[in-house]
Amino acid sequence: MAVFAVAHPNIALVKYWGKRDTSLNLPAVGSVSITLDTLVTTTQLCLSQAQGEDQLVLNGASSTPAQVKKLGQLAQAFRNLSGIDKKVQVTSENNFPTAAGLASSASGYAALVKALNQAFGTELSAQELSAFARIGSGSAARSLFGGFAQMHLGERDDGKDAIATQLLAGTEWPLEVVVAIASETAKDVSSTVGMEATRTTSGFYQSFIETQNVDIEQAIEAIRARDFSSLADVSEYSCLKMHGLMLSARPGLVYWNHTTVACIHAVRSLRADGIPVFFTIDAGPQLKAVCAPGYGNQVATALKEVNGVTRVLRTGLGSGAHIVTDH
Ligand code: PMV
Repeated sequence: MAVFAVAHPNIALVKYWGKRDTSLNLPAVGSVSITLDTLVTTTQLCLSQAQGEDQLVLNGASSTPAQVKKLGQLAQAFRNLSGIDKKVQVTSENNFPTAAGLASSASGYAALVKALNQAFGTELSAQELSAFARIGSGSAARSLFGGFAQMHLGERDDGKDAIATQLLAGTEWPLEVVVAIASETAKDVSSTVGMEATRTTSGFYQSFIETQNVDIEQAIEAIRARDFSSLADVSEYSCLKMHGLMLSARPGLVYWNHTTVACIHAVRSLRADGIPVFFTIDAGPQLKAVCAPGYGNQVATALKEVNGVTRVLRTGLGSGAHIVTDH
C-alpha cells in the first residue's frame, strides 16, 4: 500500500553555509528559517518485495546515482529501526523549479523521511525525523516544521542533536513571501560542492562561523517579539554575509545574475517608500522578498516589473511535513 507525504521548502533568514561533516551533513553553524506554503513536494512511497536497489523517480525522470545512494542510506536506517526488510519505491513531484535555489531538496527529503516513518511504522517524532532529513540535505531538517524553525548546530559526532525545532507557527505571524524567478535553469555549483570549496579556500570562513550565534539570537528575539524591522535587518545582513563569503572562495562563487541585483535594489526602494519588506537569496539567482502581512500584492507588482524577472510566485507560511490520507 502506498503512503503519501507532502512537505514545503523553507528558506533561511539566518543562513547556514559550511559543514563540519559531509557524510552526515552536520552543519558548521545553526540557522533560522521560514517554511513556505504554496510550493509543494508530494512524495509517494511503497514498500516492495523486489530485490535490488531502492528506487526513486523525481519529477517523472530517473534520479542521479547520488540521490539513489542517499535514498538507500535513509531507507536502510528505517529498515534497521523497524526490522522490516523491504525495499522502497519512491515517486516525488515538485510544483516549482527543481535545484534552482528554491530548496527543492529540503522539501524532498522532509517528505521522504515522513513517508519512510509512516511506511515502516517507526513512529519517530518530528525532531527525530529532522535528523534523518538532514542526512539528505542540511536545510531539509527545518522543513519538518511549519512557520519559523531553528536548526541547531549540535555537538555530537553522530548528529543526533543536529536537529530542528519550531520557534513559532506560521499562523502566529503570517508573513508573506514573493519569489522573483530570475532564471528557470538548475544551478551549476551544488551547495555541498560550494560549501566545501568555501571552507577550504576562503580566508573569511572562520569569522562567518564565529559570528553566527549573534545573528541567530537577534532573529529569534525578533520573531518572538514580531519585530519586523529587526528581522529585516538581521536577515539581509546574514544573506549578504553568506554571499560575501561565497564570493571570497577561490574561485569565487557567484550565484546571482543581473536580475537578482536589480531585485535587491527594487526591494530596498520599496522599503525606502515605507513598505515593510526585506530580501533573502540562497544558492541560486531567485530573490525571495519577505513582507509583513497584507503587503504581498504591492511587492509582487513591483518585482514583476523588474527587468529579467520571468514570473513571481506568491506564498504565505506553511505547515511542516505531514502525511496525507485523502490523496
Ligand atoms: O540544504 P543544503 O545543505 O543544500 O544547503 C542550503 C544552504 C542555503 O540554502 C544557501 C542556506 C540555508 O541555510 O538554507
